Parts: sequence; C-alpha cells; structure tokens
Amino acid sequence: MSGGGFTDVRRFAELDSTNRYLMDEARAGAPEGVVAVADHQRAGRGRLGRRWEAPPGTNLLVSVLLRPDVPAGELHLCSMAVALAAADACAAVAGVAPDLKWPNDLLVGGAKVAGVLAESEPGGPGAGPPAVVVGIGVNVAWPGPVGVGGTSLQESSGREVDRDALLHAFLAELARRRPGLNTPLGRRQLVDAWRRRCVTLGQVVRVEQASGELTGTAVALTDAGHLVVEAAGAAHTVAAGDVVHLRPGGPPEGPK
Ligand code: BTN
Repeated sequence: MSGGGFTDVRRFAELDSTNRYLMDEARAGAPEGVVAVADHQRAGRGRLGRRWEAPPGTNLLVSVLLRPDVPAGELHLCSMAVALAAADACAAVAGVAPDLKWPNDLLVGGAKVAGVLAESEPGGPGAGPPAVVVGIGVNVAWPGPVGVGGTSLQESSGREVDRDALLHAFLAELARRRPGLNTPLGRRQLVDAWRRRCVTLGQVVRVEQASGELTGTAVALTDAGHLVVEAAGAAHTVAAGDVVHLRPGGPPEGPK
C-alpha cells in the first residue's frame, strides 16, 4: 500500500462477485489498497463453496486487496484484521458491537450479521508479495435467507444504517489496523484483540474439516490465530475449519 490506505474505491451497481473482480485485478498486477463495492452480486461467494446472496441495495458487499509481507502460514490474519475493522465500524456507525466467531464471522446476539471470505494468490520470486483478497458481506438491511438465523444491523440496532457511512468507517478502521500485519508484535496484538471479542472461546464446538469432525471445548487462540480445542483429554490446534457453536440442552446453531 503506497501509504494511501484503501482509497481506490471502485463501485459497481452489479458484479458477479467483488472477490472474483479483485482476484482478477490482483492477477493483472493491481496494487494493495484497491477496493471493490457492489450494490448487488449475481454470484456472491461464501465460504466452503456456498453462495452469498442478498437483494440489491440491502447489504454492504465489499472486497479489499492486500499484499502483505507476512509468513505464508499467517495470511489468515488478513481476514482477522478485516473482521475486527468491520466490527469496529458496526459499533461506530450502527451502535451495535458484534462478537467474533472463529474463524471469521460477526455475530450479534448469537446471530450472524456478517461473514468474511479470503482468497489468495501466492507470491514468490519475481512475483512479489502474495495477493490476498478479503471480502466481507455485512447484513445491513436484510438478515439473510429465512430459516438461516441471521440478523441485520438495522434489525439489531432498531435504526437506519447508512451503507456508505459503514463502508467509510470500515476502510478507515482497516487502514488503522493494517500496519499491525507488518510486524510479529503487531500480529500478536491483532490476535489479542480477537481474543477479547471471540465468543467461540469457552464454547462447546463442533469443528468441521475436510479431514473429519472434532467436538470439544474451544479453550484458546494461539498467537498465530489458530483455535485450540480440547477433546477427549487432548488439545487440538485447528488452523482452518467451519465451527458450529453447540448449545448444551438446545439445538445447534443453524447453518450460515
Ligand atoms: C461466508 O460464507 O460467511 C463469507 C461470505 C463472504 C461474502 C462476501 S460479499 C463481498 C465478497 N464478494 C464475494 O463474492 N464474497 C464476499
């Protein structure tokens, strides 16, 4: 980022996916700091190959391009920075401070209000730092499909929330947090900030990974931002996976 923050904001009435657009721009050599925002996505991408859908003009759909100089195993910290920046922006603009669910959801009262999806292109000799596109969908005026158990900022705050004000607050918060990714100390502080807001810690969880499922208690986040789950007397460090918060005596949280 040439010291200018996230100022190259490209707005679209409609795109297939802001992540797809920025990945293509990144492959063509776009620098860090480019931002894509769409009023509507025809093929919004969610985690694990899911779709991310919202009626036109209802939600904040935005992707940012980062080219961080961080160890390859820590690129997921970009998503963690985006989630923190978005949570701060929600608090500032909507007066609602979302909790963070590992690895990258924002919840209000246990209901999902935003999700983050990162996609990356490796760097390498001659290619420079990797490109990381982090997209976030924030439910501003539409809580997501019926039956999925999501919420929106307007529903949870009881007031009108301006998408543009939210976008500006988010980009300012992200620019403030971005330098932290450059140093080991800054990265630890980022994970510390996550620990303070992470509602996954202390919960009984089911972790769904390609290699299988793990049920146990989420007890810690490592300094690398990985989740430590205690199960059957052993501690398992989870670097990636989908997490379901299991509520004792109640139904599990629905798919989101
Ligand atoms: C999730 O599954 O929770 C992550 C959803 C991420 C959706 C956002 S909307 C803006 C950006 N563009 C996409 O195609 N996806 C992300």
